[in-house]
Parts: sequence; C-alpha cells; structure tokens
Amino acid sequence: MKPLDTLIIGGGMITNDLLLPSIYHLQRTGRAGRISVCALNSAPLRALAESRELKEAFPGQSFDAFPALTEAPDKMFANLYDEALSKLAPRQAVVVAVPDQFHYEMVMACLKHNQHVLCVKPLVLNYAQAAEIEAFAHARGLYVGIEYHKRFDRRSLVAKRQYEAGHFGAFIMGEAKLIEPYYYRHSNFQNWFTCDKTDPFVYVGCHYVDLVYFITGLKPVGLSVSGVKGRFPNGKEGYLWANGRVRYENGALLTVTDGLGYPDDAAGSNDQGLLMYCEGKNATGMIQHNDQDRGTHYCYLDNIGCAGTKYNYVSPDFYRLVPWQGGEGAQPVGYGFDSVAGNIEAMLRIESETAGLPEKEALARRQAMIKAIDKQGILATPANSYINELVVEAARLSIVNDGAWAEIVYKPTPHVKLR
Ligand SMILES: NC(=O)c1ccc[n+]([C@@H]2O[C@H](COP(=O)([O-])OP(=O)(O)OC[C@H]3O[C@@H](n4cnc5c(N)ncnc54)[C@H](O)[C@@H]3O)[C@@H](O)[C@H]2O)c1
Repeated sequence: MKPLDTLIIGGGMITNDLLLPSIYHLQRTGRAGRISVCALNSAPLRALAESRELKEAFPGQSFDAFPALTEAPDKMFANLYDEALSKLAPRQAVVVAVPDQFHYEMVMACLKHNQHVLCVKPLVLNYAQAAEIEAFAHARGLYVGIEYHKRFDRRSLVAKRQYEAGHFGAFIMGEAKLIEPYYYRHSNFQNWFTCDKTDPFVYVGCHYVDLVYFITGLKPVGLSVSGVKGRFPNGKEGYLWANGRVRYENGALLTVTDGLGYPDDAAGSNDQGLLMYCEGKNATGMIQHNDQDRGTHYCYLDNIGCAGTKYNYVSPDFYRLVPWQGGEGAQPVGYGFDSVAGNIEAMLRIESETAGLPEKEALARRQAMIKAIDKQGILATPANSYINELVVEAARLSIVNDGAWAEIVYKPTPHVKLR
C-alpha cells in the first residue's frame, strides 16, 4: 500500500495531544507519507515542532509548516489552508482540527480539492450541512470520517456487541457526564467557546449522545438543554455548564451533564462516565462505565500531572505514549490512536483496492466500499452518525431559548423544530 500524504489543518490542543503523534506513528509504520500542518499563525506550529515530548517519542520526524515557522508568530493566515490543500496530490488524507464553526467550510474545501477527510467531532453544526457533505463526497468516491474516538474504547465495543445480542434488554433510562478541567477556561477556548457559537453539551455531550446511538441504534427524537453562562478570563461570555435531557424513539431518556469546571486540583483529569438502565423480560439490565477512574492512580514527584498536579487518575485507555518495540522513541496507544488509525486505514484501503482501475470502475468500487463502512457503523461517517448533527442543531435551538423542548423529526426529511 502506498502511504497517504497527510495534512492536518489546525495546530491546537487536539493536534498536539492526539492527532500529530498518531500520524507520526502511522508515518513510521508505513501508513502516512509526507506530513504537513496548517494553522492560523506560526506560534502553535513552532510549539508542535519544538515539543520535547514529540521529539523524544518520534526522533527525526517532522512536518511541513503552513505558515512557515519563520513567519511572525502572531501574523494571521486565515486562507492558507487552501494553498496547503493545493500542494497535495489528489486523494490523500486531510485531518480537520479547527474550531467547530469552521468545520463545514474546511471539509467542503478538502472535498473540492479531491481529498479524503477525517474531521474532529462534531462534523458540522446542522443536519443540512452533514447531508450536503455526504452527497458531495459520495459523488466523488471520497471518504469522510468523524473522529468520535469513544466508539473505539474497548468497553464501548463490548457493550455494543452485547447489547446487539440482547444481553441487556432495551435502553430506557440513563445518565452521562463529561466535565472538562477548569483550566480550559484559560486556553484558546476563551476566543471561540462563546454563547453564540457553542456550549459544553455540543462540545463534549455529543460524545455520549453518539455512544448511546452507537451501542443501541436508538434515534433521539427530542431534547432540552439548559446552560449556565459565565465569563472567560478575557471577558467573553460562554456557557460554562450545560445540562441536557434527550428522549429516544422508544421513549427512553438520557440526562447529559457537561461543563468546563472539573477542579484543576482534583485527580481527574476530568470527570466522565455513562450509566444506562435497560428493560428486559421480567428483569432489568445495566451498563455502567466509569470513564474517569480506570483504576490507575499515580503520584509523581514533580507537578507533571494534569493542570500541574502530582496525584492523578491516569487513563491508559485513551491515549498514552509507551515504549515502542519497533525502534527508538515511544508509540501512541489507546482508543484515540485506534480511531485515527482506523480512519486513515479506511482511506488507504479505498485507495489501494481501486489503484489502477479505469476511473468509472474505480469510482463505483470506492462508493461501494464507503457504503459498506457506513453500514457497518463502527467508523463514524456522515451517513451513520447524522443523528449527532440533528442533536447539535436541536441543542443549540434549545439552549438559546432557555431550555425549550426541541423536537427531532425524521420524515419526510430530517429536521428540528421547537415544540
Ligand atoms: N475529544 C475530542 O474529540 C476533541 C477534543 C478536543 C478538541 N476537539 C475538537 O477539535 C477542534 C479543535 O479543538 P482544539 O482544542 O484543538 O482547539 P484549539 O483552539 O486549541 O486549536 C484550534 C486550532 O485551529 C487553528 N485554526 C483556526 N482557524 C484556522 C484557519 N482558518 N486555518 C488554519 N488553522 C486554523 C488555530 O490556529 C488553532 O491551532 C474542535 O472542533 C474541537 O471540538 C475534539
């Protein structure tokens, strides 16, 4: 298989914490080719290039920077991603990792440049855009994946298989929470996480909404989300907390609590988990995942833990660097890496199985392969995760209307409306 050149658009937290190290590892194991990273300005790119952790884990590996590292750190290049895209050969891989509100224009630009795309969640902020992306990509035989990595957590995969086998009964009542650390308020979040753009339910609640759909296949039919506003250190106003209640097609209810406020001094490093009660025949079933404390507790000598702490609950499951047996340095392991690798490998399979075919035949084969991925429902695609866009759209409608109930209607075409 010929490795795919990979462009990451966005040089922020998720690029540093998951995407770039994962792509570096895919590069040295022959799945990714040349790597480039594009950001708004050179400052975050310099931080990535100079990161001690990345240098130690991936000795000798580097990326092409857009803008160049020699540019002034604060000089902005809002449209440079288009130039970075035009430097790629057709049908390579682009990872979109910019703030949510730019996903639509960036993903469409990637597709117009004839590239496969992996987009961080949420794909876009409304259903119509997700449907447009799906149709546009399908017509060109291009793969679009959404990086819902919780689908790759082994516990999610176990729960999905056993739920489908009927071992729990039908989901009926549950709660999920994901409270991100307080220090997020001091990060670049304060520039874009404003009330008019997003909220904690849309930002992280969507992970658990996607997961309940992934496990059960039940579609959400309505929801209410209420927020609590507050000010970021730069004075901008955002929803710092959100609480949602989602109704499913079988009548089930899921409560989702999210926020940017897990104490920096706590062992966390955030707070998260899922509890689902299910109705069976003369008995109930239950799925309970503690996604915060996975049983590994470390106390460091120095304050190298999350938010400068010493005592931490360390999750070995999402993303960690561990010794690499294949050579010098370290390798990423965990469901975050599995998710990135799974998406890039899907693109690789599509390309390698159609290489050399006449164009018409290649297109038909690519389209069939993408439909099969949609149907399998493990990798998140616009076709098999569009309920998330409906939920995001309904959530925004609800939260800006003080928690009013928003309905999700599937026929004749999916849409949301206030009750
Ligand atoms: N658990 C998860 O799945 C997870 C976790 C964190 C973030 N995310 C998602 O990742 C995305 C980015 O989050 P983050 O935390 O990395 O944000 P961040 O604010 O740290 O970084 C955003 C990056 O986007 C870049 N950017 C903005 N506009 C650009 C443009 N026009 N051209 C090129 N680059 C541009 C900025 O330069 C910056 O490097 C968001 O959509 C977020 O929801 C997902």
